[in-house]
Amino acid sequence: MKKQNQISVPAIFWFTLSLAIGTFHLASAQEDLGLRVHQLFEQRCYKCHGQPGERVGGGLDYILDFDRLRTSPLVDLANAEKSVLYDLVSTDYMPLRDTPLSAPEKDLILTWLKAGAPSPSLAPGPAAPDFLNDDQVQNLVDEDLHLQPSSHRGLL
Ligand code: HEC
Repeated sequence: MKKQNQISVPAIFWFTLSLAIGTFHLASAQEDLGLRVHQLFEQRCYKCHGQPGERVGGGLDYILDFDRLRTSPLVDLANAEKSVLYDLVSTDYMPLRDTPLSAPEKDLILTWLKAGAPSPSLAPGPAAPDFLNDDQVQNLVDEDLHLQPSSHRGLL
């Protein structure tokens, strides 16, 4: 075999190594994306869209379950911009009656959708605190009532 037709072993080694590093970088960037969107949804959407069986959020009660979200009709991976989810945040309808998401936050969601809505692969932190039940809310109201001077209570 002629010398010039041979691919040197070190060349193959470096080529393979750079491919491996490139793939690793791509993979970790995706993980990061999933985690960042997870954190954003947890802060801004979870309180209305996380409680299973809760009908208040139009039936969307799985905002942090990306496996489910990805295959739901609210997400269109082929046309990320047309996804209902993106449409509602980009038009400031969601979060409902709350401060709209910032432009970088909206971009983050779009980038995430275009990347195939990856799940966070690094374990997300503990979920937001439990929801308050009716009794707990009632107790808070009662406690507050007792803090008022008794002369005012008749008015409350
Ligand atoms: C204060 C409560 C509240 C918050 C916070 C909130 N939503 Fe909503 N969301 C609702 C309600 C209520 C509806 C149903 C509204 C309607 O049908 O017009 C809804 C509907 C939706 C829908 C459509 C669901 C469907 O099945 O049609 C999507 C998608 C959505 N919200 C995404 C989000 C995202 C993303 C966030 C966070 C950035 C968010 N929402 C934050 C209350 C909330």
